[in-house]
Amino acid sequence: MRHYNKNIWIVLLVMMALLSGCTKQETETHKTLRVGVVLYTQDDPFINALADCLKANFEEKESDDLKIIMTVRDGKNDQSEQNDVVQEIIDAGCDVLCVGLVDRTEPSDIIEMAQTEDIPVLFFNREPVREDIMQWDQLYYVGAEAEQSGSIQGELAADLIQDNKGIDRNRDGKIQYVILEGEAGHQDTIIRTDSVVETLMDKGIQLEKLSYQFADWKRSQAENKMTQLIDQYGDEIELVLSNNDEMALGAVNAYDKLDYTEEKRPAIFGIDGLEDALDAVQQGTIQGTVYNDKEGQAAQIANLALDLFQNNSLAQYNFQDERYIFLPYQKVDASNVEDYQKQ
Ligand code: GAL
Ligand code: CA
Repeated sequence: MRHYNKNIWIVLLVMMALLSGCTKQETETHKTLRVGVVLYTQDDPFINALADCLKANFEEKESDDLKIIMTVRDGKNDQSEQNDVVQEIIDAGCDVLCVGLVDRTEPSDIIEMAQTEDIPVLFFNREPVREDIMQWDQLYYVGAEAEQSGSIQGELAADLIQDNKGIDRNRDGKIQYVILEGEAGHQDTIIRTDSVVETLMDKGIQLEKLSYQFADWKRSQAENKMTQLIDQYGDEIELVLSNNDEMALGAVNAYDKLDYTEEKRPAIFGIDGLEDALDAVQQGTIQGTVYNDKEGQAAQIANLALDLFQNNSLAQYNFQDERYIFLPYQKVDASNVEDYQKQ
């Protein structure tokens, strides 16, 4: 009889242990962070690379206690389409939104939808104006200072011109240049264009602008525009300043197709530091680029998304203007390109 009693107690204890174990596990695995990432387009290599980094960051943050579902959607370069996509994501259930706006001056609809459902929004890459970001305290921006990318590009170009008298091919003491610009109205187009020229002038480089062309960040468009420019100016062009690498590589394609020899080609500079451009710097088809720290930006977006979701303190963030996080750009030329290729 005594024996029998003891067995019952053991069975009960084991059952209780199992039950409490189960409940504990259930509540913990129930934590799921749903992140909606809406890109301005899925046809942009820098943005796609940034989205890949973001995915890797969220995957790393997953644990037995936390599941993270990141959904990526395409704004198809159309603001009203992007607004619809955001609404769909919110309707499907979403805890944090990460948005690269199609039109950085038109975030109002997205802000309103998010605020109604109390979903924080982390804007990235395409910088909204301050008044918009300040509309609600759950709006943030993660990116990089456009001004810095232009001035670093200017320093790279100035160094090369000063060290290499041959860049001034016609020896008139001035550098004849063209600019390949990104999308009109984009902060990185306007500010990079201004600051690269300003930096070159500050460094005492005499400049003569031959022309500029918008090519919407795209390699193929830049190739077309550059072909026209070469048609017009031939080997008068001594320097090509491109607002990003894709367009710089488009310029290289144009010279390749026209069979320009090395002596007749201008110095070409880009911005972003994507793989193809790093290879081009190593091969000497472009002379330098400015590293746009997609890894750093993605890490900040992922950390912030999680901290907002978990209601953690944000004291460790280095906010500028309360809601902006800027990661520094870095100079890349033939002397250090290998460090970046290994990244
Ligand atoms: C810039 C980047 C460009 C393009 C653009 C899109 O920061 O340098 O290559 O991706 O963002 O907004
Ligand atoms: Ca010249």
